[in-house]
Amino acid sequence: MKLRGTILYSTAFFLTIAAPTFAATKGSQIFHSHCVMCHGEDGTGNTPAGKALKAVNFHNPAVVKLSDADLTEIISNGKNRMPAYADRLDATDIQNVIAYIRTLQSSKP
Ligand code: HEC
Repeated sequence: MKLRGTILYSTAFFLTIAAPTFAATKGSQIFHSHCVMCHGEDGTGNTPAGKALKAVNFHNPAVVKLSDADLTEIISNGKNRMPAYADRLDATDIQNVIAYIRTLQSSKP
């Protein structure tokens, strides 16, 4: 599993440009420990839990156009069946996971 993580982080590295790289790498770790079971590796929500709960596809234009402030609000406080993370992730973690979501949105699903 260590190798797989290394490959993922390397991919995140090459998909992003210098400034957001560190944030996206941290964000990838957070995404893989908290979000991937519903949202899937590629953010499409194409997982058994994602389908059962109707997790939105991050590539959906309606989600792409949400501001970072909107995403912070949703990740902190939840929305419908999307759990709230304010008690588990601090503001920096949430920013980092948003940076990672942006890298997923800018790559092909
Ligand atoms: C238990 C399953 C589950 C987990 C775990 C989960 N989500 Fe979600 N998420 C959902 C569902 C369901 C929705 C759809 C909410 C809606 O719009 O009705 C959603 C929606 C979203 C959205 C889009 C908001 C919108 O416009 O609807 C974002 C962004 C998001 N989740 C981020 C995250 C992040 C980041 C994590 C990890 C920290 C995470 N989610 C963990 C189920 C989950």
